Amino acid sequence: MNTKNEIEEQKQYIQKIKEINQVQKPKYSIFTMGCQLNENDSEKICGMLEEMEYKKVENFKDADLVIFNTCCVRENAEDKLFGKLGELKKIKEEKGTIIAIGGCMMQEKHITDKIKESYPFVDLLFGTHTLHKLPEDLYNVLDQKHKQEDIIDIEGKIYEGLPIKRDSNIKASVTIMNGCNNFCSYCIVPYVRGRERSREPKDIIEEVKELAKNGYKEITLLGQNVNSYLRVEREKNIPFEEYQGVNSFATLLYAINKIEGIERIRFISPHPKDFTDDVIKAIRECDKVCKLVHLPLQAGSTKVLKDMNRKYTKEQYLHLVKKMKEEIPNLTLSTDIIVGFPGETDEDFKDTLDVIEKVGYEQVYMFIYSRRVGTPGDKMENQIPDDIKHKRFDRLKQLVENKIYENNQNYIGTTQKILVEGKSKNNEHTLTGRTDSNKVVIFEGNDSLIGKMISIKILSQHMWYLKGEII
Ligand code: 5AD
Ligand code: SF4
Repeated sequence: MNTKNEIEEQKQYIQKIKEINQVQKPKYSIFTMGCQLNENDSEKICGMLEEMEYKKVENFKDADLVIFNTCCVRENAEDKLFGKLGELKKIKEEKGTIIAIGGCMMQEKHITDKIKESYPFVDLLFGTHTLHKLPEDLYNVLDQKHKQEDIIDIEGKIYEGLPIKRDSNIKASVTIMNGCNNFCSYCIVPYVRGRERSREPKDIIEEVKELAKNGYKEITLLGQNVNSYLRVEREKNIPFEEYQGVNSFATLLYAINKIEGIERIRFISPHPKDFTDDVIKAIRECDKVCKLVHLPLQAGSTKVLKDMNRKYTKEQYLHLVKKMKEEIPNLTLSTDIIVGFPGETDEDFKDTLDVIEKVGYEQVYMFIYSRRVGTPGDKMENQIPDDIKHKRFDRLKQLVENKIYENNQNYIGTTQKILVEGKSKNNEHTLTGRTDSNKVVIFEGNDSLIGKMISIKILSQHMWYLKGEII
């Protein structure tokens, strides 16, 4: 069956559940862990559920159906899931809540084994390659009243046409590719999300056009490795249809830049090794593409980078940064860092600090290395003791905070273009928006500005946000 027919079949299950739900209008609650790709998947889960006439509630105690969309990039997500399942046991006993768990963690056998053994009351387990089958799986739970497991270990296909309920009506994420072929030695993603495959250019462009028509202003293009969009297809002669000249990530940027109504384009995450000149040129030439580039470093030491299988050296990374800064006016950068990868010495760690000093990032996302079952990193013998990992993490955090403080000072007195996103969380008299460089800015203003691009003069900085006034 082709993917279009598979989706049609699922739409019939949506109708069947809708009929069951019409009287009761049951409620659902969803927990999303992890990255923006998972958040985008959750928007699709919500889209399917709302078509089935489920109504969303925040508190899982009020829900008839609780769904977890899990992440397995680091260990703490597992602790969180098991904690929540513990809480749900009693609630399920009282009111028969249906519990479904999906996402990356479900592609790990040791986790699903543990759930089946220790939390046998869970009704449905589904994986990353079977998200589109949620209607059928859920129907089987409701109809047959027994547990379902729908997890397959394949390369995965691209499914178009799933309903979607987006979290915002100003900013939208658009997944452009799934999976990863890089096998960084610490990372579980290639094992749970399968091989790289790109969406057809036409499907992406049509989706963005539709978003623009519906008033969306900012688009974030998502993928585990966005700058290798369509590369596997080109290299292996896997057929795809060129549309509006799109046959690479750079050409995709140009095409989306032309879509009227869209004011900002962001993308995460690119891989430094694939940062080709055409992408740098596209970022410079496309006025809507934000000049903040997330460029994951992971570690500063060439030796650690080699062990991580990152395929670039410290010098190559710094050279790329230099070239990008020269070629893209007003470029800002953010990055990901892992501390405590196996074999990392104090000298290696100093290389990480050195790169942070030299590059001057806008934002640094810092992680303590977490052993992932099945990855090469987990089998390495020279694991770093926890206390050293934590000491290095604290030292890194201190440096990063100092640098961010210094960097924020440079904003004071400048005028920034802001996309106004809504009221501030903690003060309903102020609005919040973001700069091109993704800094949060808080200012006083009228609600009618929400969704608009405006100019703000920055008055003060507060570490994680800036304050300003409309000019
Ligand atoms: N331990 C710690 N951090 C990790 N990341 C990926 N795998 C691990 C791991 N095993 C981080 C990387 C990646 C980000 C999304 O998560 O920095 O870029
Ligand atoms: Fe993981 Fe590396 Fe792929 Fe990113 S590029 S998802 S870190 S394997």
